Amino acid sequence: THAIAYRAAILHSLADPAKVGLDASYAYYEDGVLVVADGHVRDIGPADTVLARQPADLEVIRFENQLITSGFIDTHIHFPQTEMIASYGEQLLDWLNNYTFPEERKFVDAAHAARVATLFLDELLRNGTTTAMVFGTVHKASVEAFFAESDKRNMRMIAGKVMMDRHAPDYLLDTPESGYADSKALIERWHNKGRQLYAVTPRFAPTSTAEQLSAAGKLLAEYEGVYLQTHLSENKQEIEWVRSLFPERKGYLDVYDHFGLLGERSVFAHAVHLEQEECERMGESDSVISFCPTSNLFLGSGLFDLPRMEEHRIRVGLGTDVGGGTSFSMLQTIAEAYKIQQLQQHKLHPIKALYLATLGGARALRLENKIGNLEVGKEADFLVLDLHATPLMDARMNNAHNLFEQLFVLMMLGDDRAIAETYIYGDCRYRRDQRQTAV
Ligand code: GUN
Ligand code: FE
Repeated sequence: THAIAYRAAILHSLADPAKVGLDASYAYYEDGVLVVADGHVRDIGPADTVLARQPADLEVIRFENQLITSGFIDTHIHFPQTEMIASYGEQLLDWLNNYTFPEERKFVDAAHAARVATLFLDELLRNGTTTAMVFGTVHKASVEAFFAESDKRNMRMIAGKVMMDRHAPDYLLDTPESGYADSKALIERWHNKGRQLYAVTPRFAPTSTAEQLSAAGKLLAEYEGVYLQTHLSENKQEIEWVRSLFPERKGYLDVYDHFGLLGERSVFAHAVHLEQEECERMGESDSVISFCPTSNLFLGSGLFDLPRMEEHRIRVGLGTDVGGGTSFSMLQTIAEAYKIQQLQQHKLHPIKALYLATLGGARALRLENKIGNLEVGKEADFLVLDLHATPLMDARMNNAHNLFEQLFVLMMLGDDRAIAETYIYGDCRYRRDQRQTAV
């Protein structure tokens, strides 16, 4: 129950600006204090107010010229694709066949999986990502290795074993029976163990038979609170392929709908090319979209229309989609999200972007009561950001005239270099350097 106070500028998201207006959607304390005890936020607010109501002997750590905010939430990423990020020249289906499947084959080796899981989680921490929704490979052991490493760091992670029983090389296929049994065993072992949560993970409609999609639906019906993650309408050729494989269904989303895979804990990556009727069904079923800007640009998939999805009251989170995406950094991901909206004549306010990367991600994952901001009682996953991390950022920041400008510059120019420290459940798990001085 040892409490520690962190004193710095503090910014966190309180709500969706689209719902409550900009001013009510965030809190900013120029000289703020965050009090953490037992892995949770005990107090937060202006330094004078908070320190006055806390015990006089409270330990205070002060950060000069830095900004505390809540940890970033990446709603779609593939840990086995860490070492194939930036693979040249292909769009989705050829990229999968030429690069992705051979890379994922390596995860048949549990030692390889453990090494990459370690590298991956370290990389998330270096980039200020404290929670992610993560694909493994088809191998059960890949997800075992992932959860073991994540649990060791006490990180709140959602992950699952890929289910894939057709249209991939034999070495990467499971069966409806083995996919079901392996997923079930992983759920029993890891779902709600510490901070770990399980997601049933059919890769995407083309690589699962009807029998397997049906087994995925059965798992969701059997286990309360388990998630679903998959891909949806990312690429035009992919969509045509789904139509040809499931001619009896109305469209891509309807394939998943038919097997009972929609709902408030179902996260569909990309959804770049949804029909009007599909948008309606997504909203009505309270299903979630993970918007993956760097991936959509890198794989040439298309431009995601965020305001259109919000009109349909679809919850949207941000995802890096590494290794289809090109960066682990949620700051870089925000920058590309901004540019994609610009190409469609939409704006993305920095406070809205902060919301999407934190509280909006938590809402997308139905974890808004646990993470997403630094309100009292939440789990203490937070970051110390360095707004002057590079000479250019420093020069530009000194020429920024208010909080919104500073935040926007951080988002356009920032990356892992701007993450000074990352805290998980109250513990510092990453420190960029020793520049900070404890007072
Ligand atoms: N669709 C099916 N599998 C994948 C994958 O691994 N990455 C992306 N971006 N899309 C997919
Ligand atoms: Fe993906």
